[in-house]
Amino acid sequence: MFTAEKIRYTFLKLQPREEWSFRDAGRSQTTAFTHDYHRYPAKFIPQIVRKLIEDYAPSETQVVCDPFGGCGTTLVEAKMLGHKSVGFDINPVAKLITQTKTTPIKPRTLTNHRARFLSYYDNAPQISYNHHARISYWFDEPTITELDKIYFAIKKIKNHNVRRFFLCAFSHNLKNCSRWLMKSIKPTIDKDKVVPNPKESFLQHLDSMIKKNERFYTTLAQSGYTSVATKMYRRDSTKKFPIEQEVIDLIITSPPYVTSYEYADLHQLSLLWFGDDPKHFKKWHHFSNGFLDFRRNFIGTSSKGEKSGDFNSVIAGKIVDDLMEVERSLAVDVANYFLDMKKVFSEMHRVLKTGGKACIIIGNTSLRGVEILNAQVAVEQMQAAGFNKVDFIKREIPNKMITPWRDIESGKFTGMDNPSKTRAYEYEYVVVMEKV
Ligand SMILES: C[S@@+](CC[C@H](N)C(=O)[O-])C[C@H]1O[C@@H](n2cnc3c(N)ncnc32)[C@H](O)[C@@H]1O
Repeated sequence: MFTAEKIRYTFLKLQPREEWSFRDAGRSQTTAFTHDYHRYPAKFIPQIVRKLIEDYAPSETQVVCDPFGGCGTTLVEAKMLGHKSVGFDINPVAKLITQTKTTPIKPRTLTNHRARFLSYYDNAPQISYNHHARISYWFDEPTITELDKIYFAIKKIKNHNVRRFFLCAFSHNLKNCSRWLMKSIKPTIDKDKVVPNPKESFLQHLDSMIKKNERFYTTLAQSGYTSVATKMYRRDSTKKFPIEQEVIDLIITSPPYVTSYEYADLHQLSLLWFGDDPKHFKKWHHFSNGFLDFRRNFIGTSSKGEKSGDFNSVIAGKIVDDLMEVERSLAVDVANYFLDMKKVFSEMHRVLKTGGKACIIIGNTSLRGVEILNAQVAVEQMQAAGFNKVDFIKREIPNKMITPWRDIESGKFTGMDNPSKTRAYEYEYVVVMEKV
């Protein structure tokens, strides 16, 4: 059992391990196969997941889980290595992307449907959907008309997997066609943006996905893993996971960061668009109409209201006390974050088999001058949940892979042009713990 002091000391002494930096992995490797179907903030590189699976799930028939599945990096890699997998994420966009990325489709089927899609598009009637008022804030009228036509043509596709594939391309393309500043992860209007032709940019992305699917499909067929099961649920991971206890061999996940990304805001274009179609996207409609409630359930978001409870971590207690001295509302956000993470670690413990490993990829940060030692807190909370140490890995994030900067004061991700910016994370940790 590590005391808080010993955990602090151990992390202080950790040296970065070169073999975990994946310095030489180029973009073509980090975006290989289906990994680049849809932009997604704070996704981890597939190389980390692959190495963890190879190290900790050496035989093929194991079950891998990611309770913060995001855009499905873990599930894609698990499938490619022949492992069953299950993921959860509160974000419906994450589910749409992950299901698409883990479903190989016969290449011929896609090219046939592409041709059919074009004919549906050409013959689309004059449509006027009843859009959410925010749609006109983000898109100009001619773009909305074009997007309506594309959406109409996609919905004519009967094959479920193919339709979802096209919807995934459509969802990715929404940001391109909107007034949203492309280089910003925050919802920011770009007054000077020249919006591309929606159909052309949709087809361009669709075609790149079709190519990627072909490689994914062929590779899986060659290894015999095409029908290896993957399941993605839209779930709040602070609640009971929708699986039995002791069924998982390996967990690989990267939790959300506190007060950094507002995932719900980031995906509002897809949420708004699909939410306008209650017949096909009933839940999305509910989320986009009750957006503030929906947003509140994301871990790490602000404005959750004050919760109470034991952190199961001395280090967390000290961080929250220190923040209280500087900014109460920030202290509340961070306290809520640690309380939520405690619940997730306890569920991870329940679903893992004895001897199963949990690998948490996590970075530390600082808010208003207080160090937020997420990795160290995770270790303490996991110990309290019944895990023992296997390995603590410090990895350098090579410069080319770190995109975001942080605002020194607020800790939020910011742009290059902000004078009070600091590098977000130069290092992160892989905390590997075992269920005992
Ligand atoms: C760092 S990202 C994970 C990215 C993922 N590793 C990937 O490669 O795409 C964290 C994820 O946690 C999700 N999340 C936030 N709060 C959640 C909650 N309460 N339950 C489940 N997922 C949540 C976010 O939607 C986001 O997708």
